[in-house]
Amino acid sequence: VKLTPNVADIGVTAKAAEAAGADGVCVAGAQSSLPLVDIYNQGKPQYHLLNGVAHGSLGGPATKLMGFSLVANIAKKAGLPIVGGGGLETWQDSIMMMMWGAQLVTVCTAAMWYGWENISKQVEGMEKYLEKMGYTDYSQITGQSLQYLRSSKDLDAINGWAAVEEEKCIGCGKCEKPAHCNAVTMVNKKAIIDPVKCLGCGICEALCPTKAITMQMA
Ligand SMILES: Cc1cc2nc3c(=O)[nH]c(=O)nc-3n(C[C@H](O)[C@H](O)[C@H](O)COP(=O)(O)O)c2cc1C
Ligand code: SF4
Ligand code: SF4
Repeated sequence: VKLTPNVADIGVTAKAAEAAGADGVCVAGAQSSLPLVDIYNQGKPQYHLLNGVAHGSLGGPATKLMGFSLVANIAKKAGLPIVGGGGLETWQDSIMMMMWGAQLVTVCTAAMWYGWENISKQVEGMEKYLEKMGYTDYSQITGQSLQYLRSSKDLDAINGWAAVEEEKCIGCGKCEKPAHCNAVTMVNKKAIIDPVKCLGCGICEALCPTKAITMQMA
C-alpha cells in the first residue's frame, strides 16, 4: 500500500494498514508543495503546465530527510516491510534509507533526471558496499540507525561542549558564525571555545572543514 506523507503520524497509518492485512507499505517524503516563482515576472511559477499549477507532491533531493523520518517512524511503530523513497540519488542515499528501516527503496526523480543508469549505478554501489563491509544480506543493515532515534523529550541538547584541537585549526572562522552562539572567539587566527558559554549544539563541529572540533561529553 502506498501511504501519503501528508498526515500527522504516519506510524499510526502504517499500523492501521498492517491491521487491515497489508503485505507492506511504500512511502516517500513527498510533502504537498508548490513550485518556485519568477519574482521578476509577477510571480509566474517556474514550473507549470499550460494552464497553471496545483498543489502537488514534492520529489527529488529536498525530500530525502523527510523520507528518512517517515520510514523510521513506520519502522518503530509497525512491523510490516517498508519500501522507502524520496530523493534517493546515490547508492549511499539508498543504504541510508535502509539503515533508517526500509527493506526496499524506490527511485523516481533521479531516474527521470539522469536515466535508468542511475539505478544500475546505485545497485552496483550498494552491492560493492555490502561486500566491502562484510555483510551478506541487506537485512543486516536494515534499521541499524533506529537505535539512535529518541523521542524529543528524551533528547538533551546541553550534554557537552565543543573542544578545538589547535594544531588542526586553520583559522577560517566558520565556527565563529553561528548566530545563536557566543562561545567562540578567534585569537591569533585560532578558534578558542569557552566551554561555559557553549550550548552543546554541535553545529561548529559540523561546520569545521578540518575536523578540528569535537564534542566532549559532560
Ligand atoms: C512525475 C512523477 C509522478 C508521480 N506520480 C505518482 C502517482 O501518481 N502516485 C504515487 O503514489 N506516486 C507518484 N509519484 C511518486 C513516486 O512514486 C515516488 O514515491 C517518489 O517520487 C520517490 O521520490 P523521488 O522521486 O525523489 O525518487 C510520482 C513521482 C514523479 C516524479
Ligand atoms: S557547539 Fe554550538 S554552542 Fe557550542 S561552540 Fe559550537 S556552535 Fe557554539
Ligand atoms: S571552523 Fe575549524 S578550522 Fe575554522 S576556525 Fe573554527 S576550528 Fe578553526
